[in-house]
Amino acid sequence: MSEPTEGIGDMSIKDEEKQEAGDEDDVVNPWEVATHSATGVDYDKLIKRFGSTKIDDALIQRIEKVTGKPVHHLLRRGKFFSQRDMHMILDMYEQKKPFYLYTGRGPSSDAMHMGHLIPFIFTKWLQDTFDVPLVIQLTDDEKFLWKDLTLEQANHMAIENTKDIIACGFDIEKTFIFSDLNFISNSSAFYRNMCRVQKLVTYNQVKGIFGFGDSDCIGKISFPAIQASPSFSSSFPEIFNGRPDIPCLIPCAIDQDPYFRMTRDVAPRMNYLKPALIHSTFFPALQGAQTKMSASDPNSSIFVTDSDKQIKDKINKFAFSGGGATVEEHKEKGGNCDVDVSYQYLTFFMEDDERLEEIRKTYTSGELLTGFLKKELIEILQKLVGEHRQKRATITDDVVRQFMTPRKLKFDYPPPTPPSEKKKKKKQKSAKAV
Ligand code: TYM
Repeated sequence: MSEPTEGIGDMSIKDEEKQEAGDEDDVVNPWEVATHSATGVDYDKLIKRFGSTKIDDALIQRIEKVTGKPVHHLLRRGKFFSQRDMHMILDMYEQKKPFYLYTGRGPSSDAMHMGHLIPFIFTKWLQDTFDVPLVIQLTDDEKFLWKDLTLEQANHMAIENTKDIIACGFDIEKTFIFSDLNFISNSSAFYRNMCRVQKLVTYNQVKGIFGFGDSDCIGKISFPAIQASPSFSSSFPEIFNGRPDIPCLIPCAIDQDPYFRMTRDVAPRMNYLKPALIHSTFFPALQGAQTKMSASDPNSSIFVTDSDKQIKDKINKFAFSGGGATVEEHKEKGGNCDVDVSYQYLTFFMEDDERLEEIRKTYTSGELLTGFLKKELIEILQKLVGEHRQKRATITDDVVRQFMTPRKLKFDYPPPTPPSEKKKKKKQKSAKAV
């Protein structure tokens, strides 16, 4: 499948967004997500601007065909909506060739919010469905560079977040989780790839992609090479037996795409494959799709550490309602599901399609009141967060250590072909061709 030209451009994120989308439009980058629209970011426009490809019915059907399983509801409902090179990954799977998953988290708080869980919930489904290795990067170095945190604080948060990530149910035999601060200084292979990326990307290019300015510290300027490097299997010789050619698929929300546009640009020049991507939309803040969920504002979202009472109180008090101002008005005019945060949350977490559709219809007609909709959501989130809390409580330091130890996973890879053999094979091929 061909994709629109990606390019990594020379304009800053902000200039580019203003120019192409108009001053009033959405801002989406790793540090800022902002929109003026009550229904949230215009994702169709974003796909065009980023040069990715929309996930269509044909791709969903193909995934169901090759895996013999219905797809996850986050994919079925368009929450994962954009991709790069997914067909290549499915070709690999069909041909019984290996690939691996890579995702991550920037640990800026001890507790993760529900939005942060979305890529991990989906990644778990991908791991279970495709039976592949997964590497998870915790960028404690990134948070040290960007936030007012010491190295120790950022590293501590990485370990706390790791417990939440493990609680999502990842298989210890198939998953390696690493903190940049702990892992990179012990991995020559990873560091070599970082250096290769650093040599290939100019200051002008990172300025263009990430909008860095003259007063940004040099740590920020070279950081993108650190987030790029796990996209290459040669960064993890313990897992891939030194193989540099195992393709990578990255599930993430679309805010992380700038890192991977850069990675895809440099990969061929390093003789590596470009990583494939599958992007999600954003899980909105309680106050509505225009406001950003923030780890520093506890009322902007539900956190995995919230108690049942906090979940109930926050949803009742803060979840933006698309319902009428009075019961009479609601019954007369009906509710607006497109802006109603409780309904939007249900589309992420209610698995039952029929029940969700019934709620949509009866809320839109005015028959179902906001209070009932919120009650339904409160029950689902209390169950989900409660189960998460229980699982997290069982995760010992020893389990964390095991997940975070560089090691061979349950997958075997034949060693890479030595360069001399490769040349021989190429010669034989061209001789045959002649
Ligand atoms: P971070 O910690 O900002 O976010 C972690 C993951 O959650 C996604 N995300 C969201 N998804 C849905 N709705 C939201 N409201 C929402 N907010 C955040 C992010 O896209 C991300 O997938 N630099 C990265 C860490 C990282 C990474 C990676 C992420 C390193 N390597 C590879 C993805 C893939 C960061 O700070 O993520």
